[in-house]
Amino acid sequence: MLPKRYVNKKCIGGQKMAEIRRPDDMARINTPELADAFIEEQVRLIKEQVGDKKVLLALSGGVDSSVVAALLIKAIGQQLVCVHVNHGLLRKGEPEQVIEVFKNQMKANLVYVDATDRFLDKLAGVSDPETKRKIIGGEFIEVFAEEARKLDGVEFLAQGTIWPDILESEQGIKAHHNAGGLPEDLSFELVEPVRILFKDEVRVIGTRLGLPDNMVYRQPFPGPGLGVRCPGAITRDRLEAVRESDAILREEFEKNGLAGKVWQYFTVVPDFKSTGIKDGKRAFEWPCIVRAINTVDVMQVTVENIPYELMCHITDRITHEVPGINRVLYDFTPKPTATVEYE
Ligand code: XMP
Repeated sequence: MLPKRYVNKKCIGGQKMAEIRRPDDMARINTPELADAFIEEQVRLIKEQVGDKKVLLALSGGVDSSVVAALLIKAIGQQLVCVHVNHGLLRKGEPEQVIEVFKNQMKANLVYVDATDRFLDKLAGVSDPETKRKIIGGEFIEVFAEEARKLDGVEFLAQGTIWPDILESEQGIKAHHNAGGLPEDLSFELVEPVRILFKDEVRVIGTRLGLPDNMVYRQPFPGPGLGVRCPGAITRDRLEAVRESDAILREEFEKNGLAGKVWQYFTVVPDFKSTGIKDGKRAFEWPCIVRAINTVDVMQVTVENIPYELMCHITDRITHEVPGINRVLYDFTPKPTATVEYE
C-alpha cells in the first residue's frame, strides 16, 4: 500500500483536483513495486470517481496521455472515450499511428477528429506565444465539448497533466494548456491520474501497464505540438517545413542509434529568412534549428553531443529535401537558461 497522502482522495471536481499536490517527501516511483502500488490505488480511485459514467480523454499519443489512457482502460474499459484531435500541429505520421495502436491494437473506444483547418484558421496572424497556447488549449476544450454533446453520460474529462506542468504554470514560466482546469460553464469533472508524477515516473507506470516500449519511451511532445516549434504567427508553408525537417531528424536519429539514447530531439523553423544559394540561384529562405537534449525530470536539461558527420548529413538532407530551408543551425543551450521548447 502507498502512504495515505500518496493517494488523491479528493480527486473529484475540477476545483478539488487543483488542490492536489505532490507531497514534498514523496518517494520517486522507480521500482515495479512502487509503480504497481500507484496503479492499484489509481484504478480504485478512478472507479470510485467515475462510477458507470463515461470519461473523455484527449489522446494525443504522447507518453502522458497514452499512460492515462492505459490506466483508464484498465479501470473502466469501454467507458473511456478517447478523442484524438488532429489539430494540424502533429508530427508526420502521428495521427495514423494513434489510430493503429489504440483503435486497432488496444481496441479502445477512439474518436478521430480532423480539426486542422479550424485550428490553423484561428491561429492565423497570431504571434504571441502565450496567446497561441491559449487558443490551442481553448480550441481543444471546444472540440471535446462538441464530442461530448454527441455522447450520453459523459461527465468527466481525463488529462495527462504532470507535476512539472503545474509547477511551471504556478511559477509563471508558461501557461501549460492542460494545467488549471476547465472553464466553469463546462460541466466536466477532471480525472488527472498522473498529475503528481514526474515524467520518468510516468514511464515506469506505463511499462508496468504493459504499454510497448516504443510508446513509453517515445520522446515527449507538447500539447500545442509543432505550433511551439513554428515561432511567431504560424503559416502552413513554414509549419510544413517544421514537420518535414522533424521527420528527417527522427529518421536519422533512428538509423544512427540515437533515438533510444537522446531524451528529446526536434526541429524549429523561426520566422526570419536569410540569403542562400540553391541551384546557382539566390534562395532567400528560413533556417532550421536542431534541438537535441537529455534530462531526467525536465527541470534541468543538457545538450546532446551529436557526431559532426551526422550533423553534416542531417544538414544536407534538410536543406535539399525540405522546401523553404537553406540553413541548419544547432542549439547548444542547456535549461536553464533556455527552456526546451521555443515558446
Ligand atoms: P519546456 O519548454 O517547458 O519543456 O522546458 C519541458 C518539457 O515539457 C514539454 N512541454 C509540454 N508538454 N504541454 C505538454 O504536454 C505543453 O504545453 C508543453 N510545453 C512543453 C516539452 O516538450 C519538454 O519535454
